[in-house]
Amino acid sequence: MLELNDIHTFYGPIEALKGITLKVNQGEIVCLIGNNGAGKSTTLMTISGILKPKAGTISFIGSDISDMPPHSIVEMGISHVPEGRRIFPRLTVKENLEMGAYSVSRRLKTTPPIPPLARGGVGGVKSQFDKVYEMFPVLKEREKQMGGTLSGGEQQMLAISRALMSEPKLLLLDEPSLGLAPIIVSRIFKAIREINKEGVTILLVEQNAHAALNLSGRGYVLENGRIKMHGQGKDLLNSEEVKKAYLGE
Ligand SMILES: Nc1ncnc2c1ncn2[C@@H]1O[C@H](COP(=O)(O)OP(=O)(O)OP(=O)(O)O)[C@@H](O)[C@H]1O
Ligand SMILES: [Mg+2]
Repeated sequence: MLELNDIHTFYGPIEALKGITLKVNQGEIVCLIGNNGAGKSTTLMTISGILKPKAGTISFIGSDISDMPPHSIVEMGISHVPEGRRIFPRLTVKENLEMGAYSVSRRLKTTPPIPPLARGGVGGVKSQFDKVYEMFPVLKEREKQMGGTLSGGEQQMLAISRALMSEPKLLLLDEPSLGLAPIIVSRIFKAIREINKEGVTILLVEQNAHAALNLSGRGYVLENGRIKMHGQGKDLLNSEEVKKAYLGE
């Protein structure tokens, strides 16, 4: 479904990704683990078109997306939940979701216009509302509450739900468990499993390597902008090297 081939991404003169090659097959949950600064977020931002690679190719369902702008990549079926959630604090829960039904590229700007889809109550958007409210009933209860007044866990649920509004084929999740209480983390991980069962392929970035590898079929370990290891989630969990460096065992 997704193939990165020798991707190099820079921040000015700094080379953050030094030749990343990885693939995600349809239906999989694949995780990217690695220490702070390894290049995990940069990898997701390069896939979603927020950053442009200086070299290498990215193909998605047979099309080269390396040069596409972020909104076209969303239209192709890739949705990105960025690190730190970044919901709109002064829009209600419902309005945040409407923005997701519109497009990620508008989401990244500060005050986007009211999305025409949401205004008209088009069938497709409505059913997507029902789906996310079913998954996270608390969002339905808090539909009219401002995004910024939600708890951290609720904001993460909203960020994931907003990304689902565009009905992605591939969901990129950047540290969904960050800063959340263990019980909320299991709720979020359960939701990720459900989303995957509904047919959405998932590329998951996590500091919580144990939980991520348990959830994922396959995993990649990033170190200093390069893929250090990859394999089945359960093999990585049992690897002495991974245990020592990433699982604190
Ligand atoms: N805007 C930026 N300008 C310059 N360098 C950056 C920028 N963003 C990230 N970097 C650098 O690129 C490298 C990779 O960063 P990235 O955010 O992808 O790491 P990460 O694996 O997501 O880390 P974390 O676990 O802390 O989120 C780091 O060395 C970081 O300092
Ligand atoms: Mg990061």
